[in-house]
Amino acid sequence: MKYNIIPVKWSDEGVLMLDQRLLPTEEKWLTLKTYDEVAAGIKDMVVRGAPAIGVSAAYGIALGAKNFVGTTVADLEDEIGYISEVLAATRPTAVNLFWAIDRMNRTFQAAKADGKSVSEIKEILKTDALAIHDEDIESQRLIAQFGGELLGDNDTVLTHCNAGALATGGVWGTALGVIRGAVDQGKNISVIADETRPYLQGARLTAWELMEDDIPVTLITDNMSGHIMKKGSIQAVVVGSDRIAANGDVANKIGTYMVAVLAKRHGIPFYVAAPLSTVDLNTPTGDEIPIEERDRIEVTHVKGHQLAPEGVGITNYAFDVTPNDLVTAIITEKGVARAPYTESLKKQFED
Ligand code: MRU
Repeated sequence: MKYNIIPVKWSDEGVLMLDQRLLPTEEKWLTLKTYDEVAAGIKDMVVRGAPAIGVSAAYGIALGAKNFVGTTVADLEDEIGYISEVLAATRPTAVNLFWAIDRMNRTFQAAKADGKSVSEIKEILKTDALAIHDEDIESQRLIAQFGGELLGDNDTVLTHCNAGALATGGVWGTALGVIRGAVDQGKNISVIADETRPYLQGARLTAWELMEDDIPVTLITDNMSGHIMKKGSIQAVVVGSDRIAANGDVANKIGTYMVAVLAKRHGIPFYVAAPLSTVDLNTPTGDEIPIEERDRIEVTHVKGHQLAPEGVGITNYAFDVTPNDLVTAIITEKGVARAPYTESLKKQFED
C-alpha cells in the first residue's frame, strides 16, 4: 500500500499540522506548541475535515495537559475543562470535535477515579490521543474496504469537497478512502472532483491528494455535475460527512445537497462514507445540526483577489444537510448501513 498522507501528528515539540491553507502550491508544516495554537489551527482551517478536527482536538487536550505547570489533579481538571471549552468553540458542525473532547474528558475522569497522579494523567491523555488517531486511521481502512466493494471496475466517481486523507487522521480518508479501497481491490477508478466553492477544498486538496496517489482525477466547477451526470459519465457519488443525525440526514460541505438531488434524478447511487465518530445519535434529525456560517471574504475574494462589488450582501453557509431519502447507503467502519437509518445506524453502535 503506497498511501501515506497524514495531516496531523504528535511530536515532542508539539502538534505538527500540514498547513492545508497553502496547498497545493506549498507543503509547509507548522509546529503548534500550545492548546490555543491548536484551537486556532482548527478555527483558521490549517487543519479541516471532521475526523482530522477530532484528532487535532484530542492532541490539543493532551498538549494542554502536558504544558500544565500546576501540581494538583483538581487544578488539572479545571485546566482541561477550560481547554475543552476553547477547543469546542472553534467550529460547530463537525461532531467529531465534540466526540473527541468528550472522550478525552472521560479518559481524564477514569484516571482521576483510579487515583492517578498529575504526571500519570498527562501520560494517559497523550496515550489516548494517539489511540484516537490510530483508531481513526483503522476506521478509514475498514471504510475503504467495505466501500470499495460497492464500486465497479471502470467506474467514474464524483466527489465533493475533500473527504480524503487530509480530512482525517490520514492514509485513506472517508470518501477518498472508498476510492482508494476500490483501487486497492484492483479496480480501475477515475474521479471527478467538484472544485467546491467558496473554499475550494476539491480543487486545492482533493485534486492534490489524488494526484499524489496516482489516481486519475478530473476537476470540474460545481455547476458542471448535472450536465456530466446527464451524459451518463458518473456511476456513483461518494462524499464524506461532518455530522450524521440519528435518522441518517447528512451534514456535509455546502453543495452536497444539490449533488444528492441530481444523483437521485439521474438514478446514480449517492454514498456517504464516515466513521461512527461522525454519527450523532443525540441529534435526531438534520434540522437540529448547527450549520457554520463563515466570513464573507471567502465568497467575495479568492486569494486576496476581489470578485464581487464592495458591500454586496453575502451569505456563506459552510455546510448543508442532505435528507436521508437521498442517501443510498452510509459506509462506516462497521459496514454498510441502509435505510431505515434510525435502526441500521443504531445497530452499528451495538455490534
Ligand atoms: O469546512 P471543511 O473543509 O472542514 O469541510 C469538510 C467537509 O465537509 C468534509 O466533506 C467532511 O468533513 C468529511 S471529511 C472526511
